[in-house]
Amino acid sequence: MSPQMILAGNWKMNGLTAALDEVALLVASTADMASDVRIVICPPTTLLSRVSDLLNPAGMASGGQNCHIATKGAHTGDISAQMLKDAGASYVIIGHSERRMDHGETDGRVRTKAELAISEGLVPIICVGETLAERENGVAITVVEHQLSGSVPAADKGANIVIAYEPVWAIGTGRVPTNADIADMHKAIRTWLVGHYGSAGGEVSILYGGSLKPENADEILAVENVNGGLVGGASLKAEDFSRIIASGQRVQTIRRAAAT
Ligand code: PGA
Repeated sequence: MSPQMILAGNWKMNGLTAALDEVALLVASTADMASDVRIVICPPTTLLSRVSDLLNPAGMASGGQNCHIATKGAHTGDISAQMLKDAGASYVIIGHSERRMDHGETDGRVRTKAELAISEGLVPIICVGETLAERENGVAITVVEHQLSGSVPAADKGANIVIAYEPVWAIGTGRVPTNADIADMHKAIRTWLVGHYGSAGGEVSILYGGSLKPENADEILAVENVNGGLVGGASLKAEDFSRIIASGQRVQTIRRAAAT
């Protein structure tokens, strides 16, 4: 089976009640599209159950943006994977570079969270990516392979994960790597996943993230081993996000035709 095309919106710390209108608009504007694309929105936790109520009946999914390493307990202000699931989520973003930087999340913590998410029935979207200095020093692939080795759950936990490659310097900046650089990185990630999981590693979706927009989505989503995107800013408006989803649908249609 080839990897699923997934377009996941990461709303970060954005969105009040009025933003639910955008979710309703997204549901309406993608209703007529063929359903080769898995559509996910990861809103702030305050909106999660209401977003789930809008998305789940439409065959779309919601996700959290983080979870704690424990299931429950004395952790004021934190949220567990079990709570996300209870609020209707199917996915959880883990190890986003903003959390790695702002909250000192190590690879080891990312792996623990991802394993817990799997055991609670969530699909972890595990984020990796190099800084600008690492890219300029020619060590981007080595850095990402190292992050994968530390962050991806042990192979016996199952391969029901998603990887998001997000170069730190491309997030929210309008800068994106060349298609050739994206292709090289995604190929290296695929090779790593197959080494870790065997043939199941060939079915893991590898998303690209970092300034993915309606204007560049056709091109980036068509790069080999790119199986979707993790979209920040451009997922906040239904109009922009649905254009990116339409790009994903076009790419899947071409891939499906090429495979037959
Ligand atoms: P961006 O963010 O699309 O706004 O660059 C992507 C992300 O951080 O997931």
